[in-house]
Amino acid sequence: MSDSKPWAGRFAEPTDAFVEAFTASVEFDRRLAPYDIQGSIAHATMLARQGILSAAERDAIVNGLQRIGERIEAGEFRWSVALEDVHMNIEAALTDAIGSAGKKLHTGRSRNDQVATDVRLWLRAELAEIGHALRRLQHALLELAEREAETILPGFTHLQTAQPITFGHHMLAWFEMLERDHERMADCAKRVNVMPLGAAALAGTTYPIDRAFTARELGFDRPADNSLDAVSDRDFAIEFAAAASILMMHLSRMSEELIIWSSAQFAFVTLSDSFCTGSSIMPQKKNPDVPELIRGKSGRVFGHLMALLTLMKSQPLAYNKDNQEDKEPLFDAVDNVKGSLKVFADMIPAISCNHAAMRTAALQGFATATDLADYLVRKGTPFRDAHEVVGKAVAYCVDRGCDLAELTLDELRGFATHIDADVFDVLTLEGSVAARDHHGGTAPAQVRAAIARARERIA
Ligand code: ARG
Repeated sequence: MSDSKPWAGRFAEPTDAFVEAFTASVEFDRRLAPYDIQGSIAHATMLARQGILSAAERDAIVNGLQRIGERIEAGEFRWSVALEDVHMNIEAALTDAIGSAGKKLHTGRSRNDQVATDVRLWLRAELAEIGHALRRLQHALLELAEREAETILPGFTHLQTAQPITFGHHMLAWFEMLERDHERMADCAKRVNVMPLGAAALAGTTYPIDRAFTARELGFDRPADNSLDAVSDRDFAIEFAAAASILMMHLSRMSEELIIWSSAQFAFVTLSDSFCTGSSIMPQKKNPDVPELIRGKSGRVFGHLMALLTLMKSQPLAYNKDNQEDKEPLFDAVDNVKGSLKVFADMIPAISCNHAAMRTAALQGFATATDLADYLVRKGTPFRDAHEVVGKAVAYCVDRGCDLAELTLDELRGFATHIDADVFDVLTLEGSVAARDHHGGTAPAQVRAAIARARERIA
C-alpha cells in the first residue's frame, strides 16, 4: 500500500518526521474504523443513486470497504502513521485494493464532515450500551432494595445520626440518581443523532447530493441544517462528558458510602472478597478497592469535560485541527463509565448487610428524637415547643448516658405532662420508619410500592 499523502500535491517538501507523528491521530482514531466504513458505504450508495458514481464503482467501493472492515477486525490491517488518520488509512487501502474507483469515494465530502459523522455514529452506539449498563445496575439496586426493604439503619445528615431509615429506601435513592443519569444520556443521544455528512469541508459541495437519503441510511434523525456548524460543532461531546461526569459523581458518592459502611467502625456491610484486595504488608487488611477506584475515576472524567470545553472555547468557525483532540477524552470517558457501571452492577448483589450493626448504630444518637417531637405535636404541642422539650430530654439522656427509649414514663413526663405510655411505640425504630408512610417516605410499605413503580418505569 502506498503511504503517500493524498494532499501532497501542493507540497514541495516532505513532512518533518516528528511533525508527522505529532499530527497523526491513527493510533487512537482507528477505533472509529467500523463507523468510518459504515459512513463511507452510505456515502457511496448515495453518490451512485444521484448518478455521481456508476453502479459498478459503487459495488467495487462497497465490497472493498467490507473486505477492509474484515481485515481490520481480524487484526490483519497495516495502519500507517504517514497516512495520518483512520480516514486516509482506509481510503488508501481501498484504492490499493480496487484501483481508481477507490479514488472517487471522497467525491462530495471532506474529512471534516466525515470525522464528525464517525464520532457521532460511534457515540450513538456507546450511548445505547451505557443505557443498558445503567439499567442493569438499576435492576441490581432494586433487587437489593427488595431484599433489605425492612432493614433499619441510621440515616445521616452532616454524617451525624439523623433519623432511622430502611436500607431499601437508601438503595432507592441511588436508583433515582441513576434514573436521572439515564434520562440525561437519552437526551444527549437526541443531539448526537444529527448528521454532519454533506457539509463537506465547511460550505457544502457542488455535487447534487441527497443528504436526507444518507441520513436515513445511517439511522440519523436528520441532516445538520448548517454546514459550518455541522463540521465544527462538538456540543454533543461536551454534553456527553457532562452527563458522564454527573453519573461518575453519583457512582463516586455511592462508592464513598460503601467504603464508610464497610469500615470496621461502621461494619454495616460486607463487600464480597472478589471485589476487594489485600495489603502486601498488613495481613489483616481487606480493602474496598473497587469503590475506591471508581471514586478516583470520577476525577479523570470530570477532567475530560473540562478538556472538551477548553478545546472548543475560542475556536473560530469552522473545523480546526484542535478538534482532533476531542477523541481521547471521549474514548476514555466512555471506557471508564462503562467499566465503572459494569463492576458496580456486579458488586451490588454480593453485598451483605450486617443487620445487628446497623440496628445498634440506629439505637445510638437519638435517631427517634423527631418522632418524640411529632408525638407531642399530635397531642397538641406546637412543633417549635415540642422541639425545645425534646432537646432538653436529649440533653438529660446525654448526661446519663442512656437513650430516650430507656427513660421511664415518669422521667418523660418531667419534660411534658401529657406524655402517655403509647409514647414508647414511636420511640422504637420500627415505629419510627413505619410512621413515614407516604409517597417517597422510608416506611417498608412505601419502599415496596416504590420498587414496584421503579420496575415498571425501567421495564
Ligand atoms: N484526524 C482529523 C480529526 O480527527 C480528521 C479531520 C482532518 N481534517 C483536516 N482538515 N485536517 O479531526
